[in-house]
Amino acid sequence: MDIAPNLTPVLGRYFTRNWSHGEGHRLYDTDGRAYLDFANGIAVTALGHGHPTVNAAIHAQVDRLLGPVSAVGFTEPISRLATELAGTFPEPLNSVFFLNSGAEAVEAALKLARRVTGRPGIIAFRGGFHGRTFGAASVTSSSLNYRAGYEPLLPGVHIAPYPVAYPDFGGDEEAASAAALSALRGLFEAVIPPTAVGSMLIEPVLGEGGYTPAPASFLRGLRQMCDEHGILLIADEVQTGIGRTGRMWAFEHAGIVPDVVCVAKAIANGLPLSAIVSSRDLQERWGRSAHGTTYGGNPVACAAGLAVLEVIRDEGLIENAAVRGGELRAGLGRVAAEDDRIGDVRGPGLMVGVEFVRARDGHQPDGDLADRLMADCADAGLLVLLAGREHQVVRWIPPLDVTAAEISEAVEIFGESLAAIPRE
Ligand SMILES: Cc1ncc(COP(=O)(O)O)c(C=O)c1O
Repeated sequence: MDIAPNLTPVLGRYFTRNWSHGEGHRLYDTDGRAYLDFANGIAVTALGHGHPTVNAAIHAQVDRLLGPVSAVGFTEPISRLATELAGTFPEPLNSVFFLNSGAEAVEAALKLARRVTGRPGIIAFRGGFHGRTFGAASVTSSSLNYRAGYEPLLPGVHIAPYPVAYPDFGGDEEAASAAALSALRGLFEAVIPPTAVGSMLIEPVLGEGGYTPAPASFLRGLRQMCDEHGILLIADEVQTGIGRTGRMWAFEHAGIVPDVVCVAKAIANGLPLSAIVSSRDLQERWGRSAHGTTYGGNPVACAAGLAVLEVIRDEGLIENAAVRGGELRAGLGRVAAEDDRIGDVRGPGLMVGVEFVRARDGHQPDGDLADRLMADCADAGLLVLLAGREHQVVRWIPPLDVTAAEISEAVEIFGESLAAIPRE
């Protein structure tokens, strides 16, 4: 039976359960069944469901002022969140433009770069996912379905190889990094001169594309090339940001500072809010009213954002993400040691991917197995999602305040569900 006959069939869903409510790290379906939620609406409810501090901040702000007022003046939650958020970035990233969604943040970053540099070229990386609007879809290449039939997309976009260590280079990060940097130099020599490129846009860890981290040497190489040629480096931290990788921002692992950072998803623990963050100088050069928004920086979403940052700081959740992530990778590594259908376990902090293969030596992706496993895990009370072009990667996105006991519980369900699936 179709549960929602009047809802569009276009929007893809990982599960067809009917959700009733969430409490802490569990989601409950309408039959009252509890599920350990390691999906979090794709990295959104990073503090779980109904976090008391976040909910109290939301309730208080709803009673004080609900409406979006950005174009009319300032409100305390917006101004204060801008300051608090800027405080999580290294200098000179101190100027915040609030929007509503990840795609909007990407659009804004691309527009800023084009206007400020006066250059048409944009370089994005294969496997990247940046959103569904025309500009964001034009820089997205994690699946053909996000692009096909929408051509012509934004002109001036060049897609370069992402440094995928596994399986492309047998897990050798440095080889992957060197090859991808060399491909980029080749692009500059034969396809577009660097003087015509205004921005490079990259996810420090591929999200939808397969939970694949870019090696630090690659991000450092990009930073160097951008500096050399006057190109703005944009980090899409929509999925990787807000502590997910065991650092507040994933670019910190590489010791670089991008020119523009896109932020969304976990920032307001479920309410729509996003932002781009850059230097004040760049935003001034972008120019007054060069971009705008009606809803961006809604005071209720900003109040939630303030509570999220406060909880992350007060409860040491970035450190928790690093420690629990280590436990998660160790647990999954033990499962992988017993089962050669797993080709790779990878990813920083609590952004962990498990890649399934038909045969370890051939590395052929096995999306069917990952798909079945995701369904079986859900039946056993654990929600995990998939990533990768063939959906061959089970991606783990636990809440940032996940406990060691919950990690063990989840790894056990995963291991048992996998063991119960017969080999073909
Ligand atoms: C890295 C990245 N960028 C951009 C987006 C688009 O965000 P939204 O769906 O809020 O537009 C996503 C969404 O999954 C994402 O993972």
